[in-house]
Amino acid sequence: MKNTSRRSFLKKSTAAGIGTMLASSLPSFVFSATKEKMPAILGGRAALDKVHLIKWPIWIPETDEKRVLEVLRSGVWSRANVVTEFENAWAKTLGVKRCLTVVNGTNALIVSLNQLNIRAGDEVLVTPYTFVATIQAILANNSIPVFVDVDPETFQIDPTKIEAKITPNTKAIMAVHILGLPADMDQIMAIAKKHNLLVIEDACQAPLAEVGHQKVGTIGNVGCFSFQNSKNIAIGEGGAIVSNDDAFIDRCYSYHNLGTPFGTAVGTINTGSFMQATKVRLSEYQAAIGLAQLERLEGQTVTRNINAAYLSSLIKKVPGITPYKLSNNVTRAAFHLFPFKYNTELFKGLSRASFIKSLQAEGLPVSGGYTPLNTQPFIKEAFASKNFKKMYSPNAIDYKAYMENNACPKNDVLCTEAVWFSQNLLLGTKTEMEIVAEAIERIHTNAESIKKSLDK
Ligand SMILES: Cc1ncc(COP(=O)(O)O)c(C=O)c1O
Repeated sequence: MKNTSRRSFLKKSTAAGIGTMLASSLPSFVFSATKEKMPAILGGRAALDKVHLIKWPIWIPETDEKRVLEVLRSGVWSRANVVTEFENAWAKTLGVKRCLTVVNGTNALIVSLNQLNIRAGDEVLVTPYTFVATIQAILANNSIPVFVDVDPETFQIDPTKIEAKITPNTKAIMAVHILGLPADMDQIMAIAKKHNLLVIEDACQAPLAEVGHQKVGTIGNVGCFSFQNSKNIAIGEGGAIVSNDDAFIDRCYSYHNLGTPFGTAVGTINTGSFMQATKVRLSEYQAAIGLAQLERLEGQTVTRNINAAYLSSLIKKVPGITPYKLSNNVTRAAFHLFPFKYNTELFKGLSRASFIKSLQAEGLPVSGGYTPLNTQPFIKEAFASKNFKKMYSPNAIDYKAYMENNACPKNDVLCTEAVWFSQNLLLGTKTEMEIVAEAIERIHTNAESIKKSLDK
């Protein structure tokens, strides 16, 4: 494939209205594997030429570099007008009053929890099926993560299991929209209201996902986003806090800027800092990259949703493959990842690891996803720390009792069954989704031979 045709495809592919294009044209770099009978792992031709998988992040010099170069040449690199412009653009895109950027999604969570005053002695209810940063942010504020098991069908926190975990110390529910699929916000918000709990949305993987046509991140008290390299808005590093609460975002601003007064706090002191704080500001050139990526996000999200629905409809026909189910009232997902469950027995005993290996041989970006977080050593280490020992009674940080109360058996199984495709696969064509489904079918048909060959 020539570079020029690929570049023009990428440009077209990121414009709104991609759906019609997907159905009508097949880029020259895709070849159909319909005739191929052998899986690539057994010597057949790979379903998708790795080289031609849409590379992430997308960067188009002609359109994307102007603002970045302007910033670089201006010498104004620390937080200034371009960061504010990006914050305003992100708030407007989400339909929320305020946005504050920070250095990454982890710090978006840390700052939010801190300024919601969630500290030592407080418990935060959270799914065990998430990226480690969600849990680290809770511990960083000296509060305790309390795990609520998952609904394996949706891959999200099981809302019916939340209330049983509420104690007098519970302050908040961390609603993680993991994989870019929204959690059941209707139920979560109802429980939070009933028990007077705060809701922090970890929407790091879910920009533009919606529940009831409302963007996730704008439903709870605060929403947090990540712009890390793999994310749907890729800056390299970067994060954002969004909220409709002016005073809260003003406090977050002060906290992210060494405690200097901002907004409603201006004038409360004559000089210097008024709160204990940190410094986690985004840079101007990062914001300029973000503005370029924002231009494509809507079109890409439409494409991911169309392709995910289509791919899901195809692969659910293969015995042993169960694609994600969207939570109640989800009107759009972000599909940072495309998850499904894999049943070894229905693949003649072919292990998940061998199934993944087979898909990788087909050129597909695939992984087995998360391992359980509730049993990882970092929580034990936090409980054993000098800080926690000074802040908590021995009973409150009895790790053995904590482990028993925080068992999540459904999640333990999910972590052994899940398979993810990464989001860039979903930016391909409709035909590519068919090719992916055919590859899975071929692996299913030849499962026994693959097992024999890999077990040798
Ligand atoms: C669910 C979730 N929460 C938090 C984070 C942390 O974001 P970052 O990597 O920008 O610190 C991530 C990103 O990897 C994430 O996926």
